[in-house]
Amino acid sequence: MTHNVVIIGSGGREHALAWKISQSKILNKLYALPGNPGIGNVAELENINPSDFAKVEEFIRAKDIDVMVVGPENPLVEGISDYFAEKMPQLLVIGPKSKGAQLEGSKQFAKEFMERHSIPTARFKSFTSEKDYDAACQFLKELKPPYVLKADGLAAGKGVLILDSLAEAEAELKEMFAGKFGSASSTVVIEEYLSGIELSVFVLTDGKDYLILPEAKDYKRIGEGDTGLNTGGMGAVSPVPFATEEFMKKVEERVIIPTINGLKSDNIDYKGFIFIGLMNCNSDPYVIEYNVRMGDPETEAVMTRIESDLLQHLVSAAKGELASEKIEISEDQALTVIAVSGGYPESYDKGFEIKGLESLTNATLFHSGTKEIDGKICTSGGRVLAITAKGNDIFEAKKRCFEEVSKISFDKMYYRRDIGDDLISLSK
Ligand code: AMP
Ligand code: GLY
Repeated sequence: MTHNVVIIGSGGREHALAWKISQSKILNKLYALPGNPGIGNVAELENINPSDFAKVEEFIRAKDIDVMVVGPENPLVEGISDYFAEKMPQLLVIGPKSKGAQLEGSKQFAKEFMERHSIPTARFKSFTSEKDYDAACQFLKELKPPYVLKADGLAAGKGVLILDSLAEAEAELKEMFAGKFGSASSTVVIEEYLSGIELSVFVLTDGKDYLILPEAKDYKRIGEGDTGLNTGGMGAVSPVPFATEEFMKKVEERVIIPTINGLKSDNIDYKGFIFIGLMNCNSDPYVIEYNVRMGDPETEAVMTRIESDLLQHLVSAAKGELASEKIEISEDQALTVIAVSGGYPESYDKGFEIKGLESLTNATLFHSGTKEIDGKICTSGGRVLAITAKGNDIFEAKKRCFEEVSKISFDKMYYRRDIGDDLISLSK
């Protein structure tokens, strides 16, 4: 049986998912809502806002779609899976219902989940509104610097503050309670600082069984050498040299299995991706955060290493039949570079024509923030393109990737040239 599939979302992650699903042997027709011009090369687009569930439903019925893959977290936290479970129970949905989406939607919920299921994570306490300010300051005094403050709710990736001094932490805490991140920071999680190197682990689950997708590392800061402001992500590599078989075994036993069992024992019906942000602290994994979706830009690296049929895995996950699935992963090194608009993550101009897109020969191109204007592909966001190259090792992947990136240009284009450099010493 073949499937009509719709992907919800419009970024580089969704382009990578669409690219991979478009190669499936069991695909009939692929759609994306609203998608972007790159996704338009592999799927039919319709300009529907994913938060307008009734419009999405109308489209799904009109096109006889039987599989929906939700890319970003917002529609999940807003309850898109709950909506369709009620209105179209036969639709196969990849993405948890709002209760499971709380793993990302509320840091306090996620921390309490980890505590309840003995999943290693930083020591924490959460505090709600100004009435807790004194108690929160008292807890800060028990911790050593740097201090980690997290807005409980979704804050577009900006809700985590890491502060060097107690005075700064106390001042920021006051601002968070006063609405620095709107209602997202009316509750604040304060936690111990974990020192180590980060890893992104991706799991596809049907709530009982799971597949572990290729792991990745992303590069969050705007500047080379991990300096400057945080961004949505400036590049990624997969595999990651320190994610050895031994380390990944610890991740599976201490984190993945207790997470899946925890979902079961908490009666959370979860069918979808779990992205586990980990810190490797002296070879032991600690969970920094859960996300209920794939990572961006990690997906743009990860998808190029999956050799088995992703749509088959997704359909099985949505049906609760993941036990029979096996994932095949290539040993190649993938490396992704993000080309951004100059000025990002602060203010930037858009609408510049992107040149050279047709000249890529040795890399896979994913669109993030692009728009077609008068038949030309132009910039329309901070992160504009993701370029992924593969090689036998990180040197080859990197060389190839940057050769390809240099063929592309737009006004004020910027990218980090040091993606993967920190891992080269580890990979010898
Ligand atoms: P999050 O929004 O939870 O991904 O946090 C953003 C970033 O803050 C993470 O990717 C980490 O680099 C950092 N971070 C979060 N929590 C901690 C922690 N407890 N210790 C050290 N770094 C952290
Ligand atoms: N790359 C991190 C994220 O998608 O949240």
